[in-house]
Amino acid sequence: MRKQIAAANWKMNLSLQQGEQLINDLLAKPHELKAHQMAIFAVPAPYLMMAQNKLSNKQHVGVAAQNCYSKKSGAYTGEISVEMLNSLGVQYVVLGHSERREYFNESNQFLAEKLDICLQHQITPIFCCGEPLQIREAGTQNAFVAAQLAESLFHLNAADIVKLVIAYEPIWAIGTGKTASSEQAQEMHAFIRSQLAHQYGQDTANQVSILYGGSVKANNAVELFSQPDVDGGLVGGASLIADEFAAIINALK
Ligand code: PGA
Repeated sequence: MRKQIAAANWKMNLSLQQGEQLINDLLAKPHELKAHQMAIFAVPAPYLMMAQNKLSNKQHVGVAAQNCYSKKSGAYTGEISVEMLNSLGVQYVVLGHSERREYFNESNQFLAEKLDICLQHQITPIFCCGEPLQIREAGTQNAFVAAQLAESLFHLNAADIVKLVIAYEPIWAIGTGKTASSEQAQEMHAFIRSQLAHQYGQDTANQVSILYGGSVKANNAVELFSQPDVDGGLVGGASLIADEFAAIINALK
């Protein structure tokens, strides 16, 4: 079975102490992650070491950075390199979140460079894609997402593409409380998988985990995750509440 993943995206929230407390609260809850399931915590960069210290010895749990830079090292004040992540033992990075695309002008081409350097350094990218509201209203969301995939991912070979995690996050559903219906999520996830299949073959496409993101909560996770092409979620707001995120982890297939 494909990996089923509940990924927490804390974004720019919580103090170090609050973050530590949240992880402690989650670790105190009974949870059963099966061999094909994972929980990943994308924490702010200053908390990566804390999260690694608390979680690196836990099975089926990973820590992710929320961003990294496309260059190996050098005069790039304020940026985070993949070598730095390697030195912390961080194995995942969220790339191309819509907030980074919108506020920091990250283009599909720039994200392709970031993906390359991550894969060269054995870091698994969680690659985000998804359309804004006006594109959904115009009914052109498939073409929009297909272009994101083609321009950022399709230079990769099949051996690398299966290392990725993809997160489909319709921008109109992020932080708005407006979740995509499970049918809308399934439809787009199946479309993304069909694009992968067209490029790399069905066997390869079947190995890639595709997460849904956008107002995932404890009360909608079971239905969303039960869709055949939805392999878990990338969770913002609800990942900041221990009970909510624990329930979302338990909703994984
Ligand atoms: P949300 O955020 O769950 O708060 O909608 C999801 C995300 O942006 O990853």
